[in-house]
Amino acid sequence: MTVTIVGTQFGDEGKGGMVDVWSGTADVVVRYQGGDNAGHTVVHDDAAADGGTVSASATDSSIQTSTEYALSLVPSGAVRGKTGVLGNGCVVNPETLFAEIDALRDRGLDPDVRVAERAHVILPYHRVLDGSEEEAKGELAVGTTGNGIGPAYEDKAARRGVRIGDLLDPAVLRERLEYVVPHKRALADVHGVETGAAFAVEELYEQYRRYGERLAEDGMTVDAGAFLADRLDAGEKLMLEGAQGTHLDIDHGTYPYVTSSNPTAGGATTGSGLGPGVVGEGEIVGIAKAYLSRVGTGPLPTELGFVEGQTPAGGGDPDAGELADDIREAGGEYGTVTGRPRRIGWLDLPQLRHAARVNGLTGITLNHVDTLAGLDTVRAAHSYELDGAERSTVPAATERWAACEPQYREFEGWSEADWAAIAAEGYDALPANARTYVEYVSEAIDVPVYAVGVGPDRARTVIVEDPFEG
Ligand code: IMP
Repeated sequence: MTVTIVGTQFGDEGKGGMVDVWSGTADVVVRYQGGDNAGHTVVHDDAAADGGTVSASATDSSIQTSTEYALSLVPSGAVRGKTGVLGNGCVVNPETLFAEIDALRDRGLDPDVRVAERAHVILPYHRVLDGSEEEAKGELAVGTTGNGIGPAYEDKAARRGVRIGDLLDPAVLRERLEYVVPHKRALADVHGVETGAAFAVEELYEQYRRYGERLAEDGMTVDAGAFLADRLDAGEKLMLEGAQGTHLDIDHGTYPYVTSSNPTAGGATTGSGLGPGVVGEGEIVGIAKAYLSRVGTGPLPTELGFVEGQTPAGGGDPDAGELADDIREAGGEYGTVTGRPRRIGWLDLPQLRHAARVNGLTGITLNHVDTLAGLDTVRAAHSYELDGAERSTVPAATERWAACEPQYREFEGWSEADWAAIAAEGYDALPANARTYVEYVSEAIDVPVYAVGVGPDRARTVIVEDPFEG
């Protein structure tokens, strides 16, 4: 069976942590979209026997004594002895991939990572053009991670991309580069940026041919769909791990302030080669934070305070800056890849309803419930008011979304607690007010709660349901 994990907000919902919690039962963990724009910290406990234990968290600050790896491509499950697959829907920067694998090998781990032959390759010119395009956009800049994600997907759609499989065949690689590089040089010229080695066919050919040799020598490339279907036929359990989140989805998010792929559950089929029926027969678990965070620009109707350079003009609530700072600090809300402070907002139910429908969620995890502990009052936008009418979900036009006025519900807050003890004891041990909040969210979006995150690691996750057992 399959379990698909998707972000319901703007990424950074703690998907890595939940993959870590549930992938114990899985045999294969698959990433189906995105590239090295997604960051998660994998924590390796050196003291544990035989390879140690690992846990994944975007924001951990309490387990610094263990060895931490900031990974952006290798699925965290691969560090736990599972097979990790980068599906055809991913854009792969081989430099990042091998750096991460080498760092893990240096620690004595032996990650089993496979890469789809159909996945596209991020080349150095993609990163240069990501930066120059953002600069050219000025006020309209998305605030990308700068890792070449958009430009790589752009080439994929324009049918001039280089795929992982092309790296294995030097003649094909050369042919592809000879066609695409002049395009990239012309674009660099439009943006007024220098072209150097990043735009030189010969250098790129030599470097990427060598990456291809290593991929072949290490037996890393697969026809992902066939590979995964075989594993399913053999009775294995697959976890499909989305990166980013629903509202960064190129189709269903706040376009154009989005990433260039489909983090939603539909991407799990197109990006892995498994049929929609296969993914749809399994569980689809949405991960949400008990509040909101966002890195980059674009609307965030419930935003508290504002972040210079990210909050759009007129957005945010300058009077709530202190509260935003407190939540940001308590939740460690700084980008894993870029280190940028994240924008903070109250939970937004219209966004979650949209996510529940788009993804066909069968369950939800509400994370960071501990982060809100100590607040007298917790708020959540139950609906929006737009043009004098109430709406319970998000408008399709991003500018209309930005104009939505949140209609809040207020909840009594809960106090700090021994979250590890609560997680060990189970759901009923949660503070009563926290349970009221969690149950409100579940009812408002009509999706059952599978887990509640009350801390950054597995030991502080209240498990209600294991989707692999469901
Ligand atoms: P890109 O994916 O680098 O093109 O960036 C597009 C948008 O997605 C920007 O607003 C980024 O901040 C955001 N983004 C990309 N990856 C992540 C992520 O893993 N977490 C949160 N935001 C992300």
